[in-house]
Amino acid sequence: MELRIASVGAVEILDSRSRPTLAVFLNLADGTTVRAGVPSGASTGTREAVELRDGDPARYGGKGVLRAVGNVAGEINQALTGRTFADLAEVDQQLIDLDGTDTKARLGANAIVGVSMAAARAFAAVAGVPLWRYLTPDGVTPRLPVPHFNVVNGGAHAPNSLDFQEFMIAPVGAPRFAEAVRAGAEVYAALRQRLARAGHATGLGDEGGFAPDITAPEDVLAELVAAITDAGYRPGRDGVAIALDPAASEFYRDGRYHVAGQALTAEDMISRYEQMVARYPVWSIEDGLAESDWDGWVGLNDRLGGRVQLVGDDILVTNPAIVTEAINRKIANAALIKVNQIGTVTETLQTMGICRQAGWAQMVSHRSGETEDTFIADLATGTGCGQLKTGAPARGERVAKYNRLIEIEAGTRLPYGRA
Ligand code: PGA
Ligand code: ZN
Repeated sequence: MELRIASVGAVEILDSRSRPTLAVFLNLADGTTVRAGVPSGASTGTREAVELRDGDPARYGGKGVLRAVGNVAGEINQALTGRTFADLAEVDQQLIDLDGTDTKARLGANAIVGVSMAAARAFAAVAGVPLWRYLTPDGVTPRLPVPHFNVVNGGAHAPNSLDFQEFMIAPVGAPRFAEAVRAGAEVYAALRQRLARAGHATGLGDEGGFAPDITAPEDVLAELVAAITDAGYRPGRDGVAIALDPAASEFYRDGRYHVAGQALTAEDMISRYEQMVARYPVWSIEDGLAESDWDGWVGLNDRLGGRVQLVGDDILVTNPAIVTEAINRKIANAALIKVNQIGTVTETLQTMGICRQAGWAQMVSHRSGETEDTFIADLATGTGCGQLKTGAPARGERVAKYNRLIEIEAGTRLPYGRA
């Protein structure tokens, strides 16, 4: 199915953290208009594709995106308008060539990813299929992913003393997606009650999880297990399991991991995780060590890779070349997937394909700065990867993704669960 692009444009809108981002609009020759909202992270990997920000201190503290908006309406519009594209890969290659840098820094990865996401929607519209169906690779069975609800926020996402960034609950044992959402919301409510009773503030962090002033990660894990039980669910892989994203690059300084007042070596950190996995139903650990500590990761995977999922985020940045190297060096067994880390949908699908081939798991992810765009719900479903994290079961920009999946489930007979 061919795509004839009439014009591309963008406007500067706000993300969920009140920072500027882009809404991209793509108009087709047949009158169809599609749009995309661009996400943005806080704990970014150093090798991520580069967002273009204005740097003008007089607007939004330098974080404006008018230059990126101008690049969409200018150079990108000029390059795409009036042309016919056979598939999304062709559009994305055009964007990559036009930018000309390895990191998409010239036109801005934020500009490019918005156009790429909108183009994927345009192809789906032209084909008359839902976006998830358009994103399904040949030979892959689409499925509804296990949602990972980030219910306690720390690190760069909350102003508390918690060093670990994310504590997630994953209803791995739920019979279907809508029941997984119900479990997430009920455990979230039980957790709020527990925290309030213990005298903790129940204010929220950037991804909608509570941000209590608890210091030790183990104390949060104990609260989560209690909340899962309070809500009437079984803690564990046959019920509601726990996933961590410590985002360890953020507390790695001078060769040490600074956690709850201690300065730990990679060896110490690995032992600490080993104890957590033994005591609590932790099934997945993302960014357990820093992105620069490849040797540490190899040790972590040796010790724990047979028992838990070890997900690379900052260290892999959804980059096909880096993921290939990581697979060869056996540093983990799963990759986090963020479209804006690499900057095009085609490269994202390529990275996911490389993981599938190698038997690595994949977890599709939101960013801490989000819009109401639900693209990643369709991406996770279409690629059949079986896992999605998109924040707490609270705050509109997070809930929009979960609600989109409830509606996909209601309208199809797709299976639910880990791939
Ligand atoms: P970020 O965090 O979007 O702020 O980078 C998400 C994550 O680390 O997974
Ligand atoms: Zn992460």
